[in-house]
Amino acid sequence: MNIVVVGAQWGDEGKGKVIDVLAEEADILIRYQGGHNAGHTVIVDGEEFIFHLIPSGLLHQGKVGLIGNGVVIDPEALLEEMSRLQRRGIDVQQAVKISDQAHVIFPYHKRLDLLEESTRPGRLGTTGRGIGPCYVDKVARAGIRIADFCNPQAFPKKLRQAVEEKNRLLKALYNEPPIAYEELLARYSGFAARLAPHVVNEVRFLREAMAQGKRLLLEGAQGTLLDLDHGTYPYVTSSNATAGGACTGAGIPPTAIHRIIGVVKAYTTRVGEGPLPTEFGPELMQRIRTKGNEFGATTGRPRRCGWFDAVVARHAVWVNGCHSVAVTKLDVLDEMDTINICTGYRNGTKTLEEFPADLEVLGHCAPVYEQLPGWRTKTCDAASFEELPANAQRYVKRLEALLGVPICLISTGSGREQAFKTACW
Ligand code: IMP
Repeated sequence: MNIVVVGAQWGDEGKGKVIDVLAEEADILIRYQGGHNAGHTVIVDGEEFIFHLIPSGLLHQGKVGLIGNGVVIDPEALLEEMSRLQRRGIDVQQAVKISDQAHVIFPYHKRLDLLEESTRPGRLGTTGRGIGPCYVDKVARAGIRIADFCNPQAFPKKLRQAVEEKNRLLKALYNEPPIAYEELLARYSGFAARLAPHVVNEVRFLREAMAQGKRLLLEGAQGTLLDLDHGTYPYVTSSNATAGGACTGAGIPPTAIHRIIGVVKAYTTRVGEGPLPTEFGPELMQRIRTKGNEFGATTGRPRRCGWFDAVVARHAVWVNGCHSVAVTKLDVLDEMDTINICTGYRNGTKTLEEFPADLEVLGHCAPVYEQLPGWRTKTCDAASFEELPANAQRYVKRLEALLGVPICLISTGSGREQAFKTACW
């Protein structure tokens, strides 16, 4: 059985934890889009691991982690991440595989990301990692892929072409100093030599693995509302974080995917600019941010927090085709007297139940809330749905009814053991 795990909000839903729980039963863990803008946190025995490019299920022994063609790879960041994990006892030399079709992020992508952010009229709040500019080059058919990067004959020529083009751009648009080609070539050729042993023809690799009955777990990064097509454009990332991206970003056919699990927090967060219709006022924001430790795993930026938005999550369930949903961080709501759920958006006299594409329309909408009683009891020790306080059960059941799919997993703390699968698993 091959499973895709996707974020059903604006990223940071706790996918790392859900993947860690599911990875036990998988053989190959795959990242299919995004890059080191992602930060997936897994806590095992009180020890925290943050994954950026490497699939986060790799903490389990004997698994293979593949970085798919849809990912954009910063070689320096990847090598650093590999060394960090190796030092902590994870055998990355054997475990990490890289698609030869993935695109490479170079320092000029990062420079352009920062320059574009500082000069565009409305900031997007990107992570500044060069993600957008690298995908721009991919779509413009001017990118450098891992296959080119690891080919010592082809790489110098391709890099020279790219550097010449970027230098023209840097001068004309930003009056910035040029990139030194020779220095860049020397440094990046060194990275390429170190990564080359990990490179595979991912299409064949996965086809053969599936023929042997190996199980795949595809890890979406970011979330549905950050998806380039289905998110709050332009306040999105530059890849398809939704389940559809799993096929194009890993080179497997749609028919090879058997189950899709959406992940939601019991409330909502987002980092960076863009709409967040259920955003809390300052007091509640501070409280939930502190209790939920809502700071970006990649950039450390404080996350904006708000009530659970069922319009957003329903949209995600539909575009991803989620069979079920995992709910994380239920414990963060333990001390609330009452809890709101947004069930629709009021726009004048109309109530919208679908997420509008036009952000101007969204700007004129007010969330319609349904209020539920809180449970004011710790949930971190619950080992099953039945052990949750009655009002917490009621809250989860209400989310399930609003989403229209079963809730398959509930997480009530950061540790691996603080999660349980529900009866519908
Ligand atoms: P970029 O992906 O760096 O281009 O940033 C575009 C938007 O996506 C910004 O609002 C970022 O804060 C957001 N973003 C990118 N990666 C993540 C993530 O892993 N979690 C949450 N937000 C993210």
